Parts: sequence; C-alpha cells; structure tokens
Amino acid sequence: MPATWDPQQYLRHAGHRTRPFIDLLARIPELPNSSRPARIADLGCGPGNVTALLADRWPDARITGFDNSPEMLAKAAELAGPTRGGGSLDFRTADAATWIPDEPYDLIVSNAALQWVPGHAESFPAWTEALTPGGTLAFQVPGNFVSPSHALLGELCDTPQWRDRLGRHGRLFVHILEPWEYLTRLTDLGCEAVAWETTYIQLLQGEDPVLDWVKGTALRPVLTALADDEPAQEEFLLQYRDLLRKAYPPGPHGTVFPFRRIFALARKPGE
Ligand SMILES: C[S@@+](CC[C@H](N)C(=O)[O-])C[C@H]1O[C@@H](n2cnc3c(N)ncnc32)[C@H](O)[C@@H]1O
Repeated sequence: MPATWDPQQYLRHAGHRTRPFIDLLARIPELPNSSRPARIADLGCGPGNVTALLADRWPDARITGFDNSPEMLAKAAELAGPTRGGGSLDFRTADAATWIPDEPYDLIVSNAALQWVPGHAESFPAWTEALTPGGTLAFQVPGNFVSPSHALLGELCDTPQWRDRLGRHGRLFVHILEPWEYLTRLTDLGCEAVAWETTYIQLLQGEDPVLDWVKGTALRPVLTALADDEPAQEEFLLQYRDLLRKAYPPGPHGTVFPFRRIFALARKPGE
C-alpha cells in the first residue's frame, strides 16, 4: 500500500525542509536561451511550495510539478495558475518510477523525493535524453538513513512485536546512492556533473520535535500501515518517541537534529 501523505504535517517544518532546495537552486546554471519560454519539471513536487520557488527564478517558464500523492497534489493545486512573468505553474499525477518526459525540458528538478523511488538512477538516461542542449537535471535526496532517527525506526519495526505488521515499512524509503555514484552515472551519460553533500545542523523547537519531523516523511508508511488500528499506532509512536528522546535530548536552545543531504547536478552539453 503506498504511503498516505499529510501536507499539513509535512509543511510544519517547511523552513528547514526548503533550505536545501534553495541551496540546490543556487547551483543550477542559467537555462538554455531559446525562442520559447523555459520548460521545467519538478518530480515529486509534494505540496508545491518549492515548485513555486522555481517560478520566482524563472518567472516566464512553463513549470509542471509531478507527484503520485492525491493529498499532496490537492494542496499544490492551490498554487497553480499563471506566474508573474507570464509563465505558468501546474501540477499533474505521475509516478516518478515510470515517468518518461514526453517533450523536451530545460530543467528537470527533484527535491527530497527520489529516495522514495527504487531504481531512480535507471531513469537518468531517459531524463537526460529529454533535456534540451545546455539543460540541467538537478536533485537533492536525504542521506541520513543511518542516523539514529531512521535507524531506530527500522530497528523498532523489526522487533518481534511489530515485525509481522511493519517489518519492511521502516526502511521502505532507502533507495539512494552515494554522491560519487550519482556523479559517475551522470558523467557516464556525457553530462558535466557535480555532486556534493551537506549535513545541516538543524535546531528544532517544541516537544518531541524529531518525532514531529519524521511524522511528515519517514513515518508515513508506518502510519499508513497502522491507519486502521489507532491503539497500535499510538503504542508504536510512544515507543518510537521514547527512543528518539534518548537519541536527541533537548538542549538549552532547542533540539539539535543533524540531517545529511546529497545533491547532484548534471548539465547536458550543447550550448
Ligand atoms: C518529502 S516529499 C518532498 C516534496 C517536495 N519536493 C519538497 O521538497 O517539499 C516527497 C514527495 O515525493 C512524492 N513521491 C514519492 N514517491 C513518488 C513517486 N513514485 N512518484 C511521484 N512522486 C512520489 C511524495 O508523494 C511526496 O510528495
């Protein structure tokens, strides 16, 4: 069963979640000059708030956000329409695992989504093939799956109490490659590629803020699997909360939650 997303929960940490996208955006070179407005795809666009940042940088571009969550697309639809520079923003259903561009794109971007897509690197040839000369593929994925927040989730799902119901749900999202692997694969395709990683030292506020963070992302498959059993959901959350409290004790200024992220950018030669 695919995870059910909750845009409101996801957006509770929008500031911290948007920062890596702004850093990625800053590294994307100018798009190819052409007689038509730039064409941009955002894969796994979620609630569309970062897709809208693309319209700030390329106000005359035609931008489409693709996602396979009806909940996320419903939220994103609130942002659809003409953009201030004469471009447009729209949102469509697509599965990033099988998405093949059906027109040329100047930029294909994806933020914090490809970790949910097994084998996404196998799509790089089709995606870079669809880029216009001088166009760019740029993405960011979390690289923190061995951090306590995610390791503890996987371990808890694997305990005798939960294994039968949740065994695989704690690790469903681990589909990333290391930065050097992205670099190699994209360079193999003839692109000028760069890859890098950054660990953001996030300071979260409030009670059990790491649990609140994970409820918006990595916990989605677990919450979906236990959706019809509220007592079990509550019990799981209490157990996980206690583990997180030990791993991420609150400090004088808040709770420090380091978060590694991996970035890759590939520019197709031609201009
Ligand atoms: C963590 S959110 C990121 C949303 C947005 N890109 C952002 O940066 O705020 C991950 C998104 O990936 C989407 N997603 C997961 N698997 C997908 C797939 N196979 N095809 C399309 N979207 C997918 C989810 O529905 C969700 O909206």
